[in-house]
Amino acid sequence: MLLSPLLLLPAVSNALLLSQTPADSSVPGVTAVLLNWARLHNVVHIVRNLCSEEVIRTVVVWNNNPRLHLTRHHFECPERKLHIVNSPSNDYFQARFLACSSAITEFCFIQDDDYLVRTDVIRSLYAYLSSPAHANTSTVHLLPPHEYLSTTLRTTFTSDGTVHTGFAWLGHGALLRRSASTQFLQLLGELGLSDWEMKMADNYYTILGNAFPVVWMDDGIPLDGTGAFTVGDEGDERNWDHITRALRYFERRLHRAEKNTGLDSSYMRTDITRTLPRPPAFDSFTAVCLGGKHGCTITSNINLNALSTFPLNSSATALNMRAHEEARRRILGPERAAWLLQHPLTNAVDLSRASAFRSWQSAAKGDYVLLDLFAPVRTPTMMLFVVDAPTARIIQNASVFALSQDGARWVGLKSDTNLQCLSVQGTGRDWECTLHVQGTDWRFVRVCVVHSVQERWTIFDVRVEGI
Ligand SMILES: *[C@@H]1O[C@H](CO)[C@@H](O)[C@H](O)[C@H]1NC(C)=O
Ligand SMILES: *[C@@H]1O[C@H](CO)[C@@H](O)[C@H](O)[C@H]1NC(C)=O
Ligand SMILES: *[C@@H]1O[C@H](CO)[C@@H](O)[C@H](O)[C@H]1NC(C)=O
Repeated sequence: MLLSPLLLLPAVSNALLLSQTPADSSVPGVTAVLLNWARLHNVVHIVRNLCSEEVIRTVVVWNNNPRLHLTRHHFECPERKLHIVNSPSNDYFQARFLACSSAITEFCFIQDDDYLVRTDVIRSLYAYLSSPAHANTSTVHLLPPHEYLSTTLRTTFTSDGTVHTGFAWLGHGALLRRSASTQFLQLLGELGLSDWEMKMADNYYTILGNAFPVVWMDDGIPLDGTGAFTVGDEGDERNWDHITRALRYFERRLHRAEKNTGLDSSYMRTDITRTLPRPPAFDSFTAVCLGGKHGCTITSNINLNALSTFPLNSSATALNMRAHEEARRRILGPERAAWLLQHPLTNAVDLSRASAFRSWQSAAKGDYVLLDLFAPVRTPTMMLFVVDAPTARIIQNASVFALSQDGARWVGLKSDTNLQCLSVQGTGRDWECTLHVQGTDWRFVRVCVVHSVQERWTIFDVRVEGI
């Protein structure tokens, strides 16, 4: 009842699976899909975590290892929630999309077996994608800081607006629409990918979508990493090989779509207005907050001024993501790239005062930090910044605060009466700036620098309390 019978027949050919159209109807919630290969102890741990979360309705363990037969006795999970597929052969990453397309829920959560993704992070993903405002977003990808940076640098687009794509992994945790998974598999079938290419489906997913991937920085909790699939230079080269193949399929398809609009795939977006796109990733970074009850992300443009000098377009043929990434890394420079990874935005929302988000340069007019709480806040509340003394000065003496319901129209807050910055006794380091927020029905809160100061940002922690 919970899953369509397709899932019980992992041996059926791809052709058969692809010919089935899943029911349009879907139930609320999320189907989590986990692949098992060689790290069952990790999978057991992850299943326990996923099964404890309410928005996850079903956990599918797709066992890619035919030498092992998995049963529910391997796992701690309510019986109604767990589905096990013992595949007769290794389906690799394609299995994620086969399982997702057969789910009855509207959304699927995918992750690898060497990270634990916190359940509050999964709730934030769900709150975001299930909101009508994001109905046109197919997927949100979680990425650790180094992958987040790579994804940003690989952004690929052309000046005529036809190409606006990118590359993001799914394995660090991704929430996607079941419909996207189904359409993606259909497209792979139409493009005639080989069996081996199909198995490496992850490498094709974002590129063929022709939409800038929506990515959130998240650290994840590392589990035992031995026996990973992508190891060393050989693994990297295999990934680049498939990324290049994906780009060639993409170009061919785009070319055909241009000549005959009837070939529009529902997965690959070819209907966008022909204007020079500006990738959102070049303007701001977003990280997911830990501990957000209803969901929360932080967004900031701090540290991104180098990205504004990035070449904004490339040729529409022979797209080369690797060359893009290398050229942009040279513009960024190794010191600044290292800085971004050592002091990432996630450090400001990890519930810890030990780590900090730091700026590479001093605070400039227009710098902002914004929290999205995903739901209207209806009660008076308090925004707390834990910072160093220079940052307290930036916040108190060079910035303004504003609230918004939609992230577009902002209402200023009088910070002289509502904001207080005090040094925390005994630490000799920390300052706490508290903003009392009386307004109701707001969802976004933002602090924005109005005149540049010769001080760098250091944010140990930022949060909205009492919601
Ligand atoms: C989604 O895309 C359609 C078609 O381009 C557009 O009409 C609609 O306004 C978009 N919805 C949102 C919420 O952006
Ligand atoms: C980028 O776009 C500009 C203006 O549209 C155009 O003149 C230039 O040739 C493009 N550069 C590349 C590398 O495509
Ligand atoms: C802001 O400026 C005022 C007046 O110059 C000063 O008294 C106050 O200490 C400054 N705030 C911080 C956090 O340094």
